[in-house]
Amino acid sequence: MTHDVIVIGSGAAGLTAALALAERLKVLVIAKGTLTSGSTAWAQGGIAAVLDAGDTFENHVRDTMIAGAGLNRRETVEFVIERAPHAIDRLIELGVPFNTDGNTLHLTREGGHSHRRIVHVDDATGWAVQAALLKAAEANPNITLLPGQACIDLITGRHEERYSGSGRVWGVYALDEASGKVEAHTARATVLATGGAGRVYQFSTAPRGATGDGIAMAWRAGARVGNMEMMQFHPTCLYNLEVKNLLITEAVRGEGGRLINPRTGKRFMAFYDERLELAPRDIVARAIDSEIKKFGLDFVHLDISHMPPDFVRGHFPTIHDKLLGLGIDMTTQPIPVVPAQHYTCGGVMIDLDGRTDLPGLYAAGECTESGLHGANRLASNSLLECFVFGEAAARHILAHWDRFDAPPPVRGWDESRVTNSDEEVVIKQNWTEIRRFMWNYVGIVRTTRRLERAQHRIRLLSGEIDDYYGHFRVTTDLIELRNLLQSADLIVRSALRRLESRGLHYTLDHPETLPEAHDTVLVP
Ligand code: FAD
Ligand code: SIN
Repeated sequence: MTHDVIVIGSGAAGLTAALALAERLKVLVIAKGTLTSGSTAWAQGGIAAVLDAGDTFENHVRDTMIAGAGLNRRETVEFVIERAPHAIDRLIELGVPFNTDGNTLHLTREGGHSHRRIVHVDDATGWAVQAALLKAAEANPNITLLPGQACIDLITGRHEERYSGSGRVWGVYALDEASGKVEAHTARATVLATGGAGRVYQFSTAPRGATGDGIAMAWRAGARVGNMEMMQFHPTCLYNLEVKNLLITEAVRGEGGRLINPRTGKRFMAFYDERLELAPRDIVARAIDSEIKKFGLDFVHLDISHMPPDFVRGHFPTIHDKLLGLGIDMTTQPIPVVPAQHYTCGGVMIDLDGRTDLPGLYAAGECTESGLHGANRLASNSLLECFVFGEAAARHILAHWDRFDAPPPVRGWDESRVTNSDEEVVIKQNWTEIRRFMWNYVGIVRTTRRLERAQHRIRLLSGEIDDYYGHFRVTTDLIELRNLLQSADLIVRSALRRLESRGLHYTLDHPETLPEAHDTVLVP
């Protein structure tokens, strides 16, 4: 079916774009699984914006660039940060019930921020944002929401009935997860808002569907990707053998939480950075990793039990209740934590209008490399990026609408040479294998040898997965596995290209930081 614009993804970036586009255009929003299955609904800490009287845009820009180890594009950083207060106003208009202190918004603090700057809804900001955006989208007659569609590949000139070979994007082939049929959805413009690739790692705070689908689809269609080696590890994910991805928000450290070595009983951040627990994430995650390795620990402790119980319960009601359900009372006990993959800083290269390299294809949010985060994302800058670039992409499409041609007839999905799989175990085995070697070989501390080992595994698996993909009908698991491997490949190739340590990329073979910062850009 043909639409004005297709938005792939129903998180913060996708729904922001859809709501702005729907002022004048008919928009189809496609999502894999349910409409709330992306990372947006899981966000805890909040959204960074300069709202405090003593704070300035320049402070926020500086903090962002310090965290990003100089790899950020200053123009993008300024672009996003200056638009943050407007983005918060817009969310308030949509009904997001941010916490207040009297008449002003309550601002919390997180690592790397020199000021209190984070607006939040308790410790479950993402859920409130997702709900407000979704409510507005559901009420909008120009928006059609279509969950349960796993997009497989972008439709380009190569799929036109009269083959053109052009990179122009005309929409997407998507698997209807209920019927198992593949449909071609076409449009004049397409916006990718598919989130990150966190699930490429064995331990990740990201939801199940964060398999890098948009990044892999854009790459296969011919778009460049940048800085994929910059995978962010959050310092404090709950250590629990059953519950593997419960994030303990950075705001716990912002409100006084201390990191303690359970063997020595001592706070250890002073050995690593003068900003202690509020150093940027890459530094805190490496410090925890180092304590764990040095002392042979399974975890370290995050302790906020010295603060009054009402304060802890009042600030972190969701985490408090979840932990209590697991037998941990954070008002009296320390929380066992480990670092886990959390955020994909790199992605599809975009400009300030959200344009990718491919005509007709825009992108916004975690699937992109916009230049905002550089070598390490500053806490709570990510949702902000989604709002700013979701809006920017929509505004560019609206402003240039008369230049977007109607899509030509395209070929249907060819299933003539595939059968149903009788060996789904292959998918499970490969999925587990990728996540494990990525964790062990391409984690917080890297070496060239480990990266080469990972690359070798990727090459072996590529043959097997391509063969499987060529013979069997697609399922969501197979689509994700293919994208997971593609993402792993992009991460490892990027990591091998960076012959220095900078931000999130730390390699024992090149521990120094080069004088000039350069993006790692892969060209298909
Ligand atoms: P998502 O919200 O991840 O949405 C992706 C969408 O794409 C989903 O609808 C998904 O179904 C769809 N999709 C993906 N692949 C396909 C496909 N093949 N076909 C169809 N649809 C597809 N950031 C902050 O700024 N502040 C925070 O406090 C914060 N806390 C966080 C806490 C956790 C636990 C996590 C995991 C992340 C947190 N982040 C936070 C990061 C932030 O939540 C994400 O970066 C942001 O929500 C990403 O939004 P998005 O719109 O780009 O993608
Ligand atoms: C957190 O609440 O610690 C996550 C914040 C973020 O990822 O920006």
